Amino acid sequence: MSLPSDGQHWHSGHYAKHAGFVPTFGLQVVALLAPQPGERILDLGCGDGVLTEALVKAGAEVIGVDASADMIQAARGRGLDARVMDGRALAFEAAFDAVFSNAALHWMTEPDAVLAGVARALRPGGRFVAECGGHGNVAAITVALLAVLARRGIDGRAAIPWYFPDPDSYAAKLAAHGFVVDRIELIPRPTPLPTDMAGWIETFGGGFLGQLPAADRPAALAEAMDLLAPCLRDASGRWTADYVRLRFAAHRP
Ligand code: BEZ
Repeated sequence: MSLPSDGQHWHSGHYAKHAGFVPTFGLQVVALLAPQPGERILDLGCGDGVLTEALVKAGAEVIGVDASADMIQAARGRGLDARVMDGRALAFEAAFDAVFSNAALHWMTEPDAVLAGVARALRPGGRFVAECGGHGNVAAITVALLAVLARRGIDGRAAIPWYFPDPDSYAAKLAAHGFVVDRIELIPRPTPLPTDMAGWIETFGGGFLGQLPAADRPAALAEAMDLLAPCLRDASGRWTADYVRLRFAAHRP
């Protein structure tokens, strides 16, 4: 969850309440990584450290990095080695057996700088195992937020705070940075929300609604929910987010 754009501020408490499912699903990515005792692992975009802790429990030596000081404070509260760091400027050289990342790479909208840093951080033979939002992720939510901005004369497309690559283009980027791609796939994963769409948008939609005067944001939020309800709210009032994951495993030769 590194590198929030302008208007996106992280609050570990909101995140745990409205997106507590993120580390739960992330355990599948931990399983794909298959951390081994004694391995040195970098958790890129570690957030509040729930999955970093799972890697430590598997016996690995783990460093977590995230751009959000609030998240890093929460991760340190778990007793983890967690550091505030910009994903575009990873300060490690051949230091890790693996780099792991869950639900974070899509916030890092300069992927080449990130991949260069990951390649640098890994020892030869080291692996890069990750999942992030992929092509089509939260498409309905994004269109609804763009629509409420458009009604107010704002074209929000240039300021979309997310990067959701398709497998072919991301595989090409990995290869360009010297990785061998072992697998890469797009996984549609409609995700029931633990609270509701207002909580999700308030937690993650700051890059959109933050462009509006504060007094107008509640009305804009209500309009976005009204647009989304026919697609993402079921008959019992439960909301689902239209998540699509890009999951991959690659290694440095
Ligand atoms: C995601 O995990 O795919 C995601 C979360 C919040 C905003 C955008 C994407």
